[in-house]
Amino acid sequence: MTKKTVAGSVDSVMAQGDEPLSNRSSNAYFGDILERRLSRRGVLKGGLATVIAGLMATRLPLTQALAANAGAGSPTMGFNPVGISAADNVVVPEGYRVQSFIPWGTPITGDMPAFSLEASGEQQAHQVGSHHDGMHFFALNGSSTDGLLVLNHEYVEPRFLHAAASGLALDRNGFPQHDDGSRDADQVIKEMNAHGVSVVRVRANEQGEWEVVQDALNRRITAQTPMQLSGPVAGTEHLITQYSPEGLMTRGTLNNCAHGVTPWNTYLAAEENWAGYFANTDTDIDRRQARYGIETRDTGRYQWHRADQQSDQFSRFDASSRGASPAEDFRNEPHAFGWMVEIDPMNPDSVPVKRTHLGRFAHEGVIFAPAVEGQPVVAYSGDDSRFEYIYKFVSRRPFDAATADGSLLDEGTLYVARFNDDGSGEWLALAPGQNGLTPENGFADLADILVNTRSAADHVGATRMDRPEWGAVDPQTGDVYFTLTNNTRRAEGDEHPANPRANNSFGHIIRWQEEGTHAGERFAWDLFVLAGDQDDSRDLAGNALVEDNIFASPDGLWIDADRRVWIQTDISESEMNTGIYEVFGNNQMLVANPETGEIKRFLTGPVGQEITGVVTTPDQRTMFVNVQHPGATTTEDAFAEGRFTSHWPEGGSAIPRSATLVITREDGGIIGA
Ligand code: FEO
Ligand code: CA
Ligand code: CA
Ligand code: CA
Repeated sequence: MTKKTVAGSVDSVMAQGDEPLSNRSSNAYFGDILERRLSRRGVLKGGLATVIAGLMATRLPLTQALAANAGAGSPTMGFNPVGISAADNVVVPEGYRVQSFIPWGTPITGDMPAFSLEASGEQQAHQVGSHHDGMHFFALNGSSTDGLLVLNHEYVEPRFLHAAASGLALDRNGFPQHDDGSRDADQVIKEMNAHGVSVVRVRANEQGEWEVVQDALNRRITAQTPMQLSGPVAGTEHLITQYSPEGLMTRGTLNNCAHGVTPWNTYLAAEENWAGYFANTDTDIDRRQARYGIETRDTGRYQWHRADQQSDQFSRFDASSRGASPAEDFRNEPHAFGWMVEIDPMNPDSVPVKRTHLGRFAHEGVIFAPAVEGQPVVAYSGDDSRFEYIYKFVSRRPFDAATADGSLLDEGTLYVARFNDDGSGEWLALAPGQNGLTPENGFADLADILVNTRSAADHVGATRMDRPEWGAVDPQTGDVYFTLTNNTRRAEGDEHPANPRANNSFGHIIRWQEEGTHAGERFAWDLFVLAGDQDDSRDLAGNALVEDNIFASPDGLWIDADRRVWIQTDISESEMNTGIYEVFGNNQMLVANPETGEIKRFLTGPVGQEITGVVTTPDQRTMFVNVQHPGATTTEDAFAEGRFTSHWPEGGSAIPRSATLVITREDGGIIGA
């Protein structure tokens, strides 16, 4: 067990857990927003109602044929809500069963190395990763009892990952290091291999219990897996490295938060807080890194480059200019991150592809609009940092189910959202020559715009949001929902109707309807719910939330086939169960009716975790939900004494492990109904 803690570098990207940095850019447009003066009371009591009324007047019919989804069931919610909880367990409604499944370290490939705290870096590459997040169930042959569970592993908790390692001090971020500041190579490899994505074949046995199947489709994708880049940035100067002088390849994916599922049934993993993995000691760092939080200090959170400077599997995380040219070092390595990564789970030999036309930012995830034959493919994605933006990609080529594949994502238009005060909104194209994105204004071409997506969005005057997280699309109405988790840096006077609270501690959910089709350039928006406690919240009907449904920091979001809106919370571990957050207890999952706005609490998780990632089998009778970072509330002192705030899921004195929940009903019914 590691014991002492030494002061280390301050992590500028993620001060706590995975809390991201802010948009610190200045832009003339921001001044306009500062002009707006909406009192908190006005927003909660009157102003918002006015916005909603205005919206009803301007709401335009989505003419896109959603008739194919007319068979969607009704979003009934026939369970009794659960109370808030601060206990170290998972609570589901009466009549429901819950089983923990595939915790970190579960063997899935190779010679199936059993979980052990002593597992090597190489063994970790054959086991389920850490910090489960976005997830999808790919049914095999339409089955609801046999399929591939594909899930992201966002990051690692070094204290637990290396709990068996002894003798090394922990740096400020909890990572073991040698006295000279170098890192142990095998520990770094273990961290790299605990990141990425797991593809696991899972099957329900005759007793209805889910088991891992040792299968050729099982796969680990990690921070070391070779990956291709495609789209407008591929093959450009931005991506030239010693590893790929042509700028076409990189290794690994990092900080995979949420995900997306394409209309052609592949999986997309988002790269969210990737900037914290890189160091750069150059005196000048341009916007391709600076706008994403990489600073001219050796401040990376993980310090992977300090494992073995002679090996480029580690040294590539130091983006300083060390060689004579970009082809002789890794100054461009950070430009290969911040993308959406396409993975074909049905082909274990496929090379993952980073799709650069979907933009480069702290991608929380991506959500596709229902694909319509002959119409463009449309995907939405949020940039989860304070004051960042919501984006939409529209393909150039139309969807054709018979031939659709990832190349549809390589040509099209990336847009960013502007939410107007009156409940209308517009999509601003991030394309050469449009909205001022010209060489004269510093945007040379499409590749330059995409590698600098945030700067381009600043330039066109997008609306700065309160940390956009997951999105979801109502399969019947086409309404698009996005969670805005919180933003305590929004100052008084900086409120905007779409982000109506200063010091937004509790977050909210926004939704909109596109004008005409999902590819449209205008939309009408409203606020679905302002999260919070009984005194500072507002549901769709205009009422405050109550004991059965108070929540804060909405993050995960998913709409099931019957249109139930599943909401998952991520109150930061540094604040959960303390101060103004105490009333919310442990992080939880709720479900909402999109028509009435009724919300009920469905599940509470163990201590120190966030609930994130949710999907059901096609028959909706088994639900998978992820529990990430239980025990993260363990203080340095308590850790040093071997006292953890959570021992979930094993209990006893076990170290806590991220894991998946399998939820079923005793009567075999539809989950949530
Ligand atoms: Fe990884 Fe924005 O949560
Ligand atoms: Ca988190
Ligand atoms: Ca998240
Ligand atoms: Ca979050």
